[in-house]
Amino acid sequence: MTHPVLKALGLGDIESGTYLGNGEWSKTTDAGVIEPVNPTDGVVLAKVHASSQSDYDTIVERAQATFKVWRATPAPRRGEAIRLCAEALRTHKDALGSLVALEMGKSKPEGDGEVQEMIDIGEFAVGLSRQLYGLTMHSERPGHRMYEQWHPIGLVGIISAFNFPVAVWAWNSFIAAVCGDVAIWKPSPKTPLSAIAAMKICNEALKKGGFPDIFFLFNDGGNELAQQFVDDKRVPLISFTGSTKVGRIVGERVSRRMGRSLLELGGNNAIIVDKSADLKLAIPAIAFGAVGTAGQRCTTTRRLIVQESIYDDVLSKLVAAYKQVEKKIGDPTDPSNLMGPLNSRDAVEAYLDAVSQAKAAGGKVETGGAAIEGKGNFVLPTIVTGLTNDAAIVQHETFAPILYVMKFRTLEEAIEMQNAVPQGLSSSIFTQDLKAAEAFLAASGSDCGIANVNIGTSGAEIGGAFGGEKETGGGRESGSDAWRAYMRRQTNTINYSDALPLAQGIKFDL
Ligand code: UN1
Repeated sequence: MTHPVLKALGLGDIESGTYLGNGEWSKTTDAGVIEPVNPTDGVVLAKVHASSQSDYDTIVERAQATFKVWRATPAPRRGEAIRLCAEALRTHKDALGSLVALEMGKSKPEGDGEVQEMIDIGEFAVGLSRQLYGLTMHSERPGHRMYEQWHPIGLVGIISAFNFPVAVWAWNSFIAAVCGDVAIWKPSPKTPLSAIAAMKICNEALKKGGFPDIFFLFNDGGNELAQQFVDDKRVPLISFTGSTKVGRIVGERVSRRMGRSLLELGGNNAIIVDKSADLKLAIPAIAFGAVGTAGQRCTTTRRLIVQESIYDDVLSKLVAAYKQVEKKIGDPTDPSNLMGPLNSRDAVEAYLDAVSQAKAAGGKVETGGAAIEGKGNFVLPTIVTGLTNDAAIVQHETFAPILYVMKFRTLEEAIEMQNAVPQGLSSSIFTQDLKAAEAFLAASGSDCGIANVNIGTSGAEIGGAFGGEKETGGGRESGSDAWRAYMRRQTNTINYSDALPLAQGIKFDL
């Protein structure tokens, strides 16, 4: 029986995982089947037919043909296409938010919030479609004009992760679309249904508005097509979200063919709680940061660095907050729950393994530390104390709700600890001391792509550039001028004089 959440979006028990363009979903049935599992009860939600080699070839060829038309479409007109997508997503926000909650396992408000991120980035992209500005420079030569313009880069490949099964696609594809690019998406095999639903909503909106198909989708049964995708010279940009381990391989392979990659990889995000911190703000921020999405955001708070004079107070308040969360763990599609399951059995194993490693290294489990018996991939949100920042497990990103709490004496020490991990995505300080806040944000402060004051590490707004340094991969997506990654810059110099002066005053008299 088709799950009602799928039904509400017009999805059935068997779906094609390939959108070929021209209104056509592939009929391929012999390239493998992907079976997304409901993380709440372990039951298969539906069957998705994976894509074949010929599906992939068709997609790339059609995307290339569309690109020729799309790059010549005025950017504000491209913006209108995305405006329609955002409008359609508004209409389907509740239904798609429920599907994200069902298939990924995040809470219903967070599922809805993810769809809201899609709407927000859509609206941002509409405005951007009139603001793809280049600079004008002063030429050193008389009678010359110099300027730069931004042209579409071409086909943009998007490989997204299970934890944000639809928003990360929208960040990339909506910005790429107003830039004049055509997007090809390979979603996570754990969340193909959310991807199919998002594609259906947007493609329908594009069709109604008389726009060409600028979004394509394939699902890989194994990883052969994904590897081809990464190596495909016809795809000048690959935007990859996922683990540092896989991202490193993607980055190396794309650069070998002189392609461009945009990498959004792991985080090991810390919150520093200074002695002047307002704990009324800090405690809920830490709890949401560490427990939200069951610890499966790349921005999840994984380390807490607390000034020693308030350490005991912070720890006991936090343990009390976790006990409240424990009462609201359950089916994520029930909006009253704060925390759903982990997405997969593997994630539960990784969680249990991290807990035992933490214990073996001398860590003390203050709360949680176990899987919840029964159906589904539920675990208890966990706080571990007694480990130092350089402990192997603290240095490692475990995609689960485990928070390592540590002490510091001086702010310098805290900033040093915060930075002393391989990853560099998000960071925060809770303080009411202006000097401490500014020191944290200074060049000698946090080394992360995101640094916040009196706000947690997760839940970034789309308006800023999103991404991080070091092993997080260096990419920036979403707001600010992240659009530039999806375009190629061209410098143009025009001589409107009757002479031919050379730059740098060089003489070349024939
Ligand atoms: C991710 O986990 O891949 O800042 C992205 C946040 C969200 C995006 C997370 N807006 O937590």
